[in-house]
Amino acid sequence: MTLHITQLNVAYGKRTVIPSLSIPDLQPGSATVVLGPNGSGKSTLLRALAGLARAQGDIVLDGLALDTASLAERAKRMVYLPQALPQAVHLRVIESLLAARKASPHLPYTTDHAVPADAVEQGAVLLQRLGIGHLAMRHLDELSGGQAQLSGLAQALIRQPRVLLLDEPLSALDLNHQFHVMSLIGEETRRHRMVTLVVLHDLSLALRHADRVLVLKDGALLADGPPHAAITPELLARVYGVQARVETCSRGTPQVIVDGLIA
Ligand SMILES: Nc1ncnc2c1ncn2[C@@H]1O[C@H](COP(=O)(O)OP(=O)(O)OP(=O)(O)O)[C@@H](O)[C@H]1O
Ligand SMILES: [Mg+2]
Repeated sequence: MTLHITQLNVAYGKRTVIPSLSIPDLQPGSATVVLGPNGSGKSTLLRALAGLARAQGDIVLDGLALDTASLAERAKRMVYLPQALPQAVHLRVIESLLAARKASPHLPYTTDHAVPADAVEQGAVLLQRLGIGHLAMRHLDELSGGQAQLSGLAQALIRQPRVLLLDEPLSALDLNHQFHVMSLIGEETRRHRMVTLVVLHDLSLALRHADRVLVLKDGALLADGPPHAAITPELLARVYGVQARVETCSRGTPQVIVDGLIA
């Protein structure tokens, strides 16, 4: 169940944002973090994979050409959590999870009226694991920004897609939740053998949690590999225009320290 992306070209009108991007196969059970400056094409890449931006090129999931598949076929296999959450509806958090699960045809669901007990249980467990079990009966449109982001993530995870596409899923979260959610994404990715792509700006979280990183600039792939190998001072200078060090802390974890900007 590898995801194969070759010669992907994405344009908005006449403006090409991703010229010809090929990414060595993305493997199941592996969480890949997508890094890159603002406007480098990270969201565009995820949107193109999800079928929401017009793209040319090959997107093949385990032999199935997704680039020519219908949106419904893609939706069966891929879940995309956008950078900006859609307007919240007046639905309870647990109801939104049941609706998300119901929209996933590969998961068991009985009829419109009878919700399988295990679906409710599964939703409640997932909310607990995300640390928002106490919000199950609250309405989505009455949540804080971070709580809404965690609920969106729960809706994505409950669908158990083959490919999980998360665009800046930590942007509204506090330090504790950022770490917790990245660990959980890794666990779920391994447990359900998903191909996971997570867009982040936080290099320290990428260094600690990613199995692999992809670094984009101007729609091109500038680095690809294990985070400690891909994230180097030279790359940070080239991609972000910063003078930075990558140093190993007293516990052996690499950390990025930015000393200044390159004039
Ligand atoms: N709907 C759109 N129509 C036209 N141009 C767009 C559209 N969305 C994005 N772009 C342009 O495409 C380029 C890539 O944008 P994209 O949103 O993919 O960047 P990004 O890497 O996700 O950035 P950020 O880190 O700021 O979220 C940018 O130059 C942006 O202005
Ligand atoms: Mg973006």
